[in-house]
Amino acid sequence: MRVLAIESSCDESAVAVLDERAGLIAHELFSQVELHRLYGGVVPELASRDHVRKLLPLVRGVLARAAAVAPGAVTGVAYTAGPGLIGALLTGAALARSLAYAWGVPAIGVHHLEGHLLAPLLEAEPPPFPHVALLVSGGHTLLIEVSGIGGYRVLGASRDDAAGEAFDKTAKLLGLPYPGGPQLAELAGAGRPGAFSFPRPMLDRPGLEFSFSGLKTAVLHAVQARQLSAQLRADVARGVEDAIVDTLITKSLRALEATGLDALVVSGGVSANRTLRARLTEAARVLGARVYYPRIEFSTDNAAMIAVAGLARLKAGEHDTLAIEARAQWPLDSLAPVAH
Ligand code: KG4
Ligand code: ZN
Repeated sequence: MRVLAIESSCDESAVAVLDERAGLIAHELFSQVELHRLYGGVVPELASRDHVRKLLPLVRGVLARAAAVAPGAVTGVAYTAGPGLIGALLTGAALARSLAYAWGVPAIGVHHLEGHLLAPLLEAEPPPFPHVALLVSGGHTLLIEVSGIGGYRVLGASRDDAAGEAFDKTAKLLGLPYPGGPQLAELAGAGRPGAFSFPRPMLDRPGLEFSFSGLKTAVLHAVQARQLSAQLRADVARGVEDAIVDTLITKSLRALEATGLDALVVSGGVSANRTLRARLTEAARVLGARVYYPRIEFSTDNAAMIAVAGLARLKAGEHDTLAIEARAQWPLDSLAPVAH
């Protein structure tokens, strides 16, 4: 089976082709960052319109490259059906559904977070099942017990801001351009550890819940209190990154202990953070556990991960009707386990 996958849930237009035997044959991505930068965040209507412009050329490009590498027809189409911006999702869903209809092949709507969770399966050493997953993106912070593809039990979530949101909002307070997360991480590299100590909420309490909204207020106070030199701005960034990374590490190790599992998957945009990767890998090793990440380019939104999830479900015989459906909200634990 060979799947063409389309991702358009937010501000990235992405297309990939994944072959059951040959693996990932082609993938392309167009980021809308420049388009939204002027507004300091994603403008949903602009996002939808740009997906309409970019998706079909991306599909053409990927198919041309796929045919050059391994000629043969696409036998299924996968697309992100939710959660995400509804207009953006509908552009991808309509294109994917139409292509599948024209080609006479099945289509499958994929849960965006299931895509993130399964992205490490594309790596040379994929994670074993069962494992614990820390899913940290712009919209979600979740600890999940993953029994198999589609078997997701949420162990803990953020009560307010997601980890990526905490990066982005504090970056904005520091005057960094959208999208702030990667920029804040870069600035933190020049910061002195311990110069600012920001709250690490919920670490003193048992449980696997997160809360990141207090971080914004603490950073706002630090930024307003004085005129920040370049060094102090870097120190604040360092303080923010350390607070978020410490919290994610402590709770992840706690989830490994609570479940008795020794494999941890970390995925979603924030898993691209190199400080998190280095420190978490070491902390887990001390505990006798191993951490699995997607390659950096598949940590943030991409279509390869949607192809992995779509291929697994199409192979199990699942497929959608002819209706074009997208869901702005879609609980992860409502998914059905994939039959083997
Ligand atoms: O998974 P993703 O690409 O999109 C969503 O599904 O939300 O995640 C985007 C989030 C943003 O909040 C972005 O700032 C954050 O991931 N992010 C990072 C880094 N790269 C992306 N946060 C911290 N450090 C990074 N290197
Ligand atoms: Zn995402």
